Amino acid sequence: MTYLKSVRNVFALFLCLFALAAQAQTAAPAKLPNVVILATGGTIAGTGATSTTTVGYTAATVGVDALIKAVPELQKVAHVSGEQVFQIASENMGNEQWLSLAKRVNALLAQPNVDGIVITHGTDTIEETAYFLNLVVKSRKPVVVVGAMRPSTAISADGPINLYNAVLTAGSLEAVGKGVLVVMNDQINAAREVTKTNTVTTDTFKSPELGMLGYVVGNQPHFYRASTRKHTVDTEFDISKLDTLPAVDIAYTYANVGPTAVNAFVAAGVKGLVHAGVGDGSLPTKVRPALSSARAKGVIVVRSSRVGQGIVARNGEANDDELDFVVSDTLNPQKARILLMLALTKTNNTKEIQRMFYTY
Ligand code: SIN
Repeated sequence: MTYLKSVRNVFALFLCLFALAAQAQTAAPAKLPNVVILATGGTIAGTGATSTTTVGYTAATVGVDALIKAVPELQKVAHVSGEQVFQIASENMGNEQWLSLAKRVNALLAQPNVDGIVITHGTDTIEETAYFLNLVVKSRKPVVVVGAMRPSTAISADGPINLYNAVLTAGSLEAVGKGVLVVMNDQINAAREVTKTNTVTTDTFKSPELGMLGYVVGNQPHFYRASTRKHTVDTEFDISKLDTLPAVDIAYTYANVGPTAVNAFVAAGVKGLVHAGVGDGSLPTKVRPALSSARAKGVIVVRSSRVGQGIVARNGEANDDELDFVVSDTLNPQKARILLMLALTKTNNTKEIQRMFYTY
């Protein structure tokens, strides 16, 4: 009898606990992630004269609070707060802004109550800012850079949906450890591979040949692949004590080009020079001696290509070992410039710098 009673009691206790647990599950709202939006300007914060003005508008006029208010749906997927870090068109983004943005991102991500960061940005240099952050952010938490091709006042502005998808991704566990991402047009791209491919259309961002990472569909990110190159916590770059970056410029090559630009950059005192060559980074006969003499003066020369896809092969179109040049691998010239600047904060050794180009 006593035995039956105690079995009944234990059973009742289990039922109680089960009911309490079930109640707790239905009563407690799902814990929303804390996502900070850092606004820097661009078309996503732009305004035009009329709703059909999709060119000739003014970028960087709407503040971060208004951007957040325009998308009330954000509150359903994250606790969102905003900071206006700059208010500029992204053609004016530069080393100084990158250093201060990266320091702010690192400080925020070090806080336990921040789960992810979204950076609103002009699309013209979004790939450069994203790649810079990809190399210097010291956290595995998601960082998503987002922009828009149409100003906020346009019919079918793409900013609100892009911002919503960016916040969803930045607050997701799936995006942890994936490096810095660019989310636009329902697609997720890796900072290293993404590039702007069209001057005006909303599907402008692509990762040519290597492919995007996934989609944002049905209120959640879906990842299908990851970039294999090292990033964020796995890089050797530390910008925490830097106020400037070494001067690195890009010399562009075209039919009939001469050595004027290369010589001018060297005279201006650059520490590194990226050559945006034709084809597989080929060096025109009139440019090669100027680059070779730049190297003799201590300037690090990186052979890249203006083509936009494919590998610049070491010792292919030039004898890089003999010239003591570095090749950019698959990085386009503007991203090669970023990696070269960071590489030069660590070393002047071309073998080491070449290793970095094959690592990041
Ligand atoms: C900019 O890059 O700031 C202007 C263009 C854009 O955001 O699409």
